[in-house]
Amino acid sequence: MNVSLNLVKWYNKNKRELPWRHTDNPYFIWLSEIILQQTRVSYGIKYYLEFIRTFPTIDSLANADEDHVLKMWQGLGYYSRARNLHKAAKKIQQNYSSKFPKQYEDIISLQGVGPYTAAAISSFAFKLPYAAVDGNVIRFIGRFFGEEAPYDTYQGRKIYQNLANKILDKDNSAEHNQAIIEFGALLCTFRSPNCLECPFSCNCVAYNTNSIYNLPVKSKQIKVKDKYIHYLFIQKSNSILLGKRKFGIWKGLYDLPSIELSSYISEESISQTKEWEYFFKNNDVQIEFVSEEYQHKLSHQFIHAKFWHVKSDNVKIKGFVEVDKEDIIHYPVSVLLHKFFCENNLN
Ligand code: ADE
Repeated sequence: MNVSLNLVKWYNKNKRELPWRHTDNPYFIWLSEIILQQTRVSYGIKYYLEFIRTFPTIDSLANADEDHVLKMWQGLGYYSRARNLHKAAKKIQQNYSSKFPKQYEDIISLQGVGPYTAAAISSFAFKLPYAAVDGNVIRFIGRFFGEEAPYDTYQGRKIYQNLANKILDKDNSAEHNQAIIEFGALLCTFRSPNCLECPFSCNCVAYNTNSIYNLPVKSKQIKVKDKYIHYLFIQKSNSILLGKRKFGIWKGLYDLPSIELSSYISEESISQTKEWEYFFKNNDVQIEFVSEEYQHKLSHQFIHAKFWHVKSDNVKIKGFVEVDKEDIIHYPVSVLLHKFFCENNLN
């Protein structure tokens, strides 16, 4: 059977209207793909529209402040993606006279662009014959071919890429890639694939061997670690202490001073920690109250956080500045902090 033809036929009857499907501007397509790596389509649309409104050209993104770019990304998580977008825009400005490169090798050499994104941009914007392999495509291919190799190993990725190349219609790569991604997203879904309406069920190995829920195969489960963060919300009259993070997953975002431990800790014990000593030295400190637990799940970490409301008039901490409460809204912060600021009417 001609798999691509059937995918495209299904796509033309069932596709969603999505804003990045009405453009062949490689810059917009790149933005959409980076955003969609991070979030569901329905949530990503407003970020995409707001991003292209604020930064309509590669130059406008390249010339923006990193803080501004991170603020636009706020809520999507995985902030290294936003920093890479910014770096890649600067690279395009410098190395390609602000014109998005048209060759796959140049596209994949941009910061934050891997084989999937390079294939997506190359096909959608330049009609080049590259097969895009994301989670949606892996699901369809794994089931259709009955592929038993784990897809998250070096060998497995090669096997999946070869299978995707095999069914690619090289003369219609843009529509083929959109169709296979959409098929995985809407019909061949993880939890409830709609096999009764699937045009491939007669030829699908997983369907015919009752292995829909066993394929595709993953090699390892991610171990999720619990982390306990004691945030210090240090108030000095109308301001609080805020600093820019220099490393880690929240690098570039603004943050409160914090103490990270493997469990929660009492009021007496926290003042004995070396971090507390470092922050407050001999200053007078008043702990007013401690918040309820805020939780935040990341792929490798389960963060449990409590906010310690503290008053101290003389404290100064290296790397942290006093920010007026009314101005907090302008600073890019993590979703966890944003939740806390919202609940305390600071954002
Ligand atoms: N997920 C990743 N890329 C996508 C696209 N172009 N359309 C819909 N969903 C996607």
